[in-house]
Amino acid sequence: MSAWLIDAALVARENAYAPFSKFKVGAAIEDDTGRIHTGCNVENATYGLTVCAERIAVFKALSEGARKFVRVAVVADTETLTPPCGACRQILWEFCGDVEIVLANLSGKCETLRLGTLFPRAFDASFL
Ligand code: THU
Repeated sequence: MSAWLIDAALVARENAYAPFSKFKVGAAIEDDTGRIHTGCNVENATYGLTVCAERIAVFKALSEGARKFVRVAVVADTETLTPPCGACRQILWEFCGDVEIVLANLSGKCETLRLGTLFPRAFDASFL
């Protein structure tokens, strides 16, 4: 149910540490047991060490033992819905495959698409 997932991402977004960009992002990932794992962006004064909300959510989930994922929600305060950045698309592809991605904003706008649409012809372990 994506409404719960969006809500979880909205709550996680409140914890964003984004003093440099002021751009707060929340993410939530549902695993195959129905458990929800959340993340927010965490910035760094060096800028380059900033980690996006999506990657924090994936790594938290993995570190808790989750391995299969069915849906990912990403929430930001933008009129045009914010999609995962390129680095996050690569990480999401590695661990979630062609998962459902739910984009939402604070005004209730949302859209669901598949990662394969956002990230076609991905490089992954099948090439190795
Ligand atoms: N950011 C995310 O957390 N996820 C995205 O998909 C896009 C960008 C963060 C990184 C940085 O803290 C801020 O948004 C501005 O780029």
